[in-house]
Amino acid sequence: MRIELESSIPIRQLSKAIHKTTQEVENSLRTMGKAVSAGDGMKVDQAIWIAEQEGFEVRILIHGQEDTLSIEPERKAILQGRPAVVTVMGHVDHGKTVLLDALRHTNLASQEPGAITQHIGAYRIHLPGGDITFLDTPGHEAFAAMRARGAQVTDIVVLVVAADEGVKPQTVEAIHHALTAHVPIIVAANKIDKPQANPLRVREELAGYGLIPEEWQGNTIYVDISAKHHKNLDKLLEMILLLAEIMELKADPQRMARGTVLESKIDPQLGPTATVLVQDGTLRLRDFFVCGQTFGRVRLMMNEWGMRIKVAPPSAPVQVSSFSGVPRAGDLFLVISGEKEAKKVADLIGKIQETARIKRPSTLKELQRQVRKEAIPELPIVLKVDVYGSLQPIVQSLNNIVIPGTRITIAHSGVGAINESDVLLASASRGLIIGFNVKADSKAEILAHQEGVEIRLHSIIYELINEAANLARGLVVPQYREEIIGRGEVIRIFHIPRVGTVAGCLVQEGKFIKGYQARVIRKGIVLHTSKIISLKHYDQFMDEIGQGDTCGMVLSGGFTRYRNKDQIEVFIREEIPRERSEERL
Ligand code: GTP
Ligand code: MG
Repeated sequence: MRIELESSIPIRQLSKAIHKTTQEVENSLRTMGKAVSAGDGMKVDQAIWIAEQEGFEVRILIHGQEDTLSIEPERKAILQGRPAVVTVMGHVDHGKTVLLDALRHTNLASQEPGAITQHIGAYRIHLPGGDITFLDTPGHEAFAAMRARGAQVTDIVVLVVAADEGVKPQTVEAIHHALTAHVPIIVAANKIDKPQANPLRVREELAGYGLIPEEWQGNTIYVDISAKHHKNLDKLLEMILLLAEIMELKADPQRMARGTVLESKIDPQLGPTATVLVQDGTLRLRDFFVCGQTFGRVRLMMNEWGMRIKVAPPSAPVQVSSFSGVPRAGDLFLVISGEKEAKKVADLIGKIQETARIKRPSTLKELQRQVRKEAIPELPIVLKVDVYGSLQPIVQSLNNIVIPGTRITIAHSGVGAINESDVLLASASRGLIIGFNVKADSKAEILAHQEGVEIRLHSIIYELINEAANLARGLVVPQYREEIIGRGEVIRIFHIPRVGTVAGCLVQEGKFIKGYQARVIRKGIVLHTSKIISLKHYDQFMDEIGQGDTCGMVLSGGFTRYRNKDQIEVFIREEIPRERSEERL
């Protein structure tokens, strides 16, 4: 059975080829985090992934002169166990790096002590009970960035929590990343050598996030460790192997390799080079491959210790050079029968990505379309708020919204400015971000634009709740456009009887205009928003203050809690008139 495809493969076509119902294929797509509805198509790599999950080997064929492809499920795969791929996550300073170093050492000590340095961001350790691949991801962002591109590289997350500090914001972030990716978590309660360590508290706190310890009849494995003193690391490894065994992780070493790019760079000697995690099949020297929009032939392959190798089995991380360009982390790496095919597929994937980028509707519209078609059972929301006090009431109100056929799920919630991790999480779960009295930091704003993630900002709770409810109902909500007229910084604060608190500001960009809205921002948190009721330059009342000048500013509402270095933004917000096409959505 051949499946023809141009820009995408219809679900029905794939389901027929792999003897599954369309429902089953749709479910597989959903587990990959893709919002689907009947009649939708899927991308080449998604189709390949699903076919493979069903045990088919897939070959991509090119027909004649045209840029059409087909994928051909060939033979039933011969599956064998493969090593688990593990990512270590956790809050800053809770001991991830020390743990990874210690684990690497467990293994190296038995071979060539200290002599070898690791070359790439992943390594394997070999144990009597099996092998484990550890990914040195630099954080939650990398994990989510890959997921946002549809790549799932991790089988198990080890969540490191310092037992003297307990659960912290990034611990919670990590839990949400792992949960939305459906990756099981093993908790390593670290630093138990410290006198203040309280592993029981770690369990109590994490139980509140659904990670109920096995000893309390839950199903989360906890191991108390000291990464620094190498205590209980063997126990941790044993638990990873145990969980891996239960998960029955399998691959077919006979087939042509398929993997995912973990990181890439331009090496001064070797040119474009990438670390690839082989996820299925065996990668061999001289194999042709396509990878994202690039292609090539494996001319040089090295393992994590910088040694040249000829074959790389499933779950092995390898450094591959001789790409035609630099692939991106999260790109699918696919061995293909010949160079001509590799080049064509790479071109085609390039074109698909190009059109996808141009045609991509804003996520909000897409979401609404999906909700309206009842194609998605839930609307995932990443919620960020200014203070803990507002978190609980908003979460509760969102949970109380009842709409038949759909529901709001909170993929992550937290306190503080909207950051890149939030954007990636929203992108990976195909949801949107709602901020309450917070702003997105500049990196997050750029990323949200790239990923097409919608950020809705609010400062009034009932408006936020109303809007969320309308979104979940698939109603068109007003879109706003905001223009920043001026930015400045508080440099002095005056308390003047009868006038109130005056913020002495330096206008750094644009201008401040009397009567316009202004907000006071500290570390990404919006402390206050109201109108400028008076502006004074030295002794003179002014209507406008320009860039480079200082002024005394009074806002309506009697805000007094200014501090030096608070940021001021003066802005206009207006509703964007609805387009006809949008109303027909
Ligand atoms: P980031 O990479 O910054 O997110 O931190 P990390 O999670 O990698 O933490 P790292 O491994 O760098 O450890 C942070 C600090 O905790 C270091 O000073 C370590 O020496 C210390 N530390 C790590 N594990 C242990 C432990 O088991 N016991 C004690 N006492 N200290 C530890
Ligand atoms: Mg570290």
